[in-house]
Amino acid sequence: MNNLRFIPSQGFNNYVMILLISSKMHIESGSQIRKVLVIGLGQLGIPVAKYVKDSGFETFGYDINTLKMEEAEKNYGIKRIEQFDDIDVFILCVSTHDPNDEYTPFVDGLFSLAQKISREAKNGSLVSIESTIPKGTSKKIFELLNHRLHVAHAPHRWYALEEDEHGVNQVRVVGGVSDCCLKIALQFYDSGNESLESNDNSTNDSHENCRRNSLEIPMHPVSEIEIAELTKIIENADRYMQIAFSEDLYLYCQANNVNFGELRDALNTKWNVNILEPRDGVGGHCLPKDTKMFLHSSKSIKSKILMAAMEVDQDYRRFREMRGYRLVPPAINSHK
Ligand SMILES: NC(=O)c1ccc[n+]([C@@H]2O[C@H](COP(=O)([O-])OP(=O)(O)OC[C@H]3O[C@@H](n4cnc5c(N)ncnc54)[C@H](O)[C@@H]3O)[C@@H](O)[C@H]2O)c1
Repeated sequence: MNNLRFIPSQGFNNYVMILLISSKMHIESGSQIRKVLVIGLGQLGIPVAKYVKDSGFETFGYDINTLKMEEAEKNYGIKRIEQFDDIDVFILCVSTHDPNDEYTPFVDGLFSLAQKISREAKNGSLVSIESTIPKGTSKKIFELLNHRLHVAHAPHRWYALEEDEHGVNQVRVVGGVSDCCLKIALQFYDSGNESLESNDNSTNDSHENCRRNSLEIPMHPVSEIEIAELTKIIENADRYMQIAFSEDLYLYCQANNVNFGELRDALNTKWNVNILEPRDGVGGHCLPKDTKMFLHSSKSIKSKILMAAMEVDQDYRRFREMRGYRLVPPAINSHK
């Protein structure tokens, strides 16, 4: 266990937690990672599992939907597994929305999964959460794992329509529950990361082993895992707001007999303006769900501008419904 730290602002509990980690974990940074299990074999989990497998790791897949496991095995050679006892890295890609309402955040599935991992996994493995989660979730998972495993959060920016450019291997943020969790995660994802090199006192040989054992994804490490959690949900909240502003302008144009398309083209000639197309409104379920995760992350101050953006999206949809026709050309709602 390296780099133990005491964060005075977080008090004695934090100190005790870190001591507990150090006593229960025995994985050493630089030790070999061989077996990787991707959990949740949906839209995100499949490309992740394929990438991990192509990077040379023995790759397994698990999903509560057995059909998904069968397909992953048949189509991509991702071996199905139901026992978690011999896994070095768990990558969690499960859905984080309410099964009855895809716009509402829901992490109970993730927590029950953590309980299964807690019962079955060996000490010191890495649990990397790639699903989008509310602030505070990673530390709750760490508690459920009884402080026995390393926990990191490496939220995903995967974008189906541009998989080459914005697939599994793109710049991503990573945080760890403690410094050693972050270090192990960085070695797994990005063994050449300069923050590892600057503290590195390992031998050339062990460094070379780490490099052979890494996904080589460029990672941006952050000092607190909550920063990683917030980064993902605020990225999507920002996108939500940009789309809502274009909806707002569109409604303004309709009410004031202004040609939206021409106005937008004119505005976008300025170097620092980029007004989006409003298309069918804020698309997919991730932007609304993740924006709600951000809004719910604070009990006191809530973003007024985001609450207004949600109202604008509703107004825009209502407007389109009332007109009963498509105001803009149908397109894949690629509000990436
Ligand atoms: N799809 C994307 O473009 C994208 C991009 C970035 C982040 N994300 C995030 O990644 C996560 C997964 O998204 P997705 O689009 O792949 O969802 P998905 O619905 O396509 O797949 C999720 C999979 O998880 C499985 N699952 C759910 N609960 C489970 C559990 N308790 N144990 C095992 N398996 C379980 C489901 O059966 C399903 O196969 C979400 O948090 C999402 O916000 C998705």
